[in-house]
Amino acid sequence: MKVLASAPTKVTLFGEHAVVYGFPALVMAIQKRVEVTASKTSDGVVRIELPELSSIGLKLEIRNGEVEIKKVQNALKHASYVVETIKELQKRANQSCGAKIMVKSKLPAGVGLGTSAAVIEAVGLAYSTLLGITMDKKEIAQLAKHVETLVQGKSSGMDASIISQGGIGLFRLENETPVLQRLEAKEIPIVIAYIKKVIPTGEAVARVKAIFEKHKDITKTIFEAICAITEKATRKILENDLNSLGELMNLNHGLLCSLGVSNLRLEQLIHLARDAGALGSKITGAGFGGSIVCLLKNEESAKNVCQVLKPFCDGVFLAKRDNIGAQVQIIGS
Ligand code: PMV
Repeated sequence: MKVLASAPTKVTLFGEHAVVYGFPALVMAIQKRVEVTASKTSDGVVRIELPELSSIGLKLEIRNGEVEIKKVQNALKHASYVVETIKELQKRANQSCGAKIMVKSKLPAGVGLGTSAAVIEAVGLAYSTLLGITMDKKEIAQLAKHVETLVQGKSSGMDASIISQGGIGLFRLENETPVLQRLEAKEIPIVIAYIKKVIPTGEAVARVKAIFEKHKDITKTIFEAICAITEKATRKILENDLNSLGELMNLNHGLLCSLGVSNLRLEQLIHLARDAGALGSKITGAGFGGSIVCLLKNEESAKNVCQVLKPFCDGVFLAKRDNIGAQVQIIGS
């Protein structure tokens, strides 16, 4: 049996960091998909290749539960997401099968655009299908949250939820349970630019927590303001009021700066985008490098901003909304 599974990546439009404290975030799946092809093999070994997720490529084998690394540079973390997904499915199904798995990604790992959750969901759907297990969107999102927690410590489950469902939605943790309310909104012209992250998400969250613990009253007010922005942005996106959305992005960015998560290179990109005509621009994701998101009035203006940002970042693109989410199909016997 041969299967093809894929999952979109995502962009957080409003509310990152505050979401960790139970406030809402507005999040959108984007059409830069992680694609996984997998076929059953008869020798019981799971062979995994991630050629694009590290600079020199990576090969792994799982033999009787033992992981053998064939070739690696700095993509060990992504390898861990794949390995833990396979092991978790083998544990749940109480069975195993040999497989050849190829993971391809349109985006690099670790720039705050949800490649980890997309890798888990695409690999999870592919390997579970080989095992004869059917997983619905809720189950695959739960698996992704679980594996993210195993590998990186803590996960709000925001990426896992929007990547499984696709579309755009308001996410929040209700008593630690991820809840995604999908919205019917028109497509908005969005540009995303990324650079290398200086520190990982977990550490960024820990640094914000340290500020929160030290200045609780003030930081709580900042989170409440971000929450008000996110809620207003949700109304404005439904009204397709792009000018207001841009202003709200700038306000959200100012508050993220106040939490200390911006840096010189991100500020450069943010202001270059605004000077080139963006209606608004902000950090997206954990900050300290990673990505920025810009709102434009139309596609032409978006293309112009892409040109302006290109020399100053590692990648920039016009982001299209994905409305499908994670999916799998059988492509051969
Ligand atoms: O990993 P990133 O860069 O997509 O950022 C995660 C977003 C945070 O709100 C900072 C953390 C979280 O778990 O939601």
